[in-house]
Amino acid sequence: MAVREAPASSPFLTDVTELRRRARQHIEKGAVTPGYQGNLETVLKLLNDALATEIVCVLRYKRHHFMAKGIHAEGVAAEFLEHAQDEQQHADQIAGRITQLGGAPDFSPDGLATRSHAEYVEGDTLEDMIKEDLVAERIAIDSYKEIILYLGENDPTSRRLMEEILAKEEEHADDLANLLEDLGRR
Ligand SMILES: [Fe+2]
Ligand SMILES: [Fe+2]
Repeated sequence: MAVREAPASSPFLTDVTELRRRARQHIEKGAVTPGYQGNLETVLKLLNDALATEIVCVLRYKRHHFMAKGIHAEGVAAEFLEHAQDEQQHADQIAGRITQLGGAPDFSPDGLATRSHAEYVEGDTLEDMIKEDLVAERIAIDSYKEIILYLGENDPTSRRLMEEILAKEEEHADDLANLLEDLGRR
């Protein structure tokens, strides 16, 4: 296949010859090119903290799913399970991005609760469980917002991933607030 020549007035800020030259350097770094503008070490740390948060949320939602009891428990237990599955998906997406950036996802149970932003609180009643999950979602919402702001234009792919996850956490928080309101009305 013929190599397409760069047009005379290239719309790129860096000329195409230079882009092609740089792309051939350090090809073992895969998706991380010389144009990567993030501080890789910090980005990997933030993503691993978010991964820990997601894992703790999976564990808490699973516990709540299996422990939900009482006449209103069935629908709530189903909601807990759905959230647990969403958090598991988030964990997998974040771990995937970490390896794409050449890092290693931290799945170690040692220090997991400390790395996580959100807490693992068991809760005694259905209401306590929903409240604790809502608090955890609100923590995730604020910490992910900060991560997104930090990533800014430096790592648009990680930022978009975190934005997508943030939108889901906001949905979760809204679901839980509605469950709490329903429970109060019954
Ligand atoms: Fe999540
Ligand atoms: Fe969530």
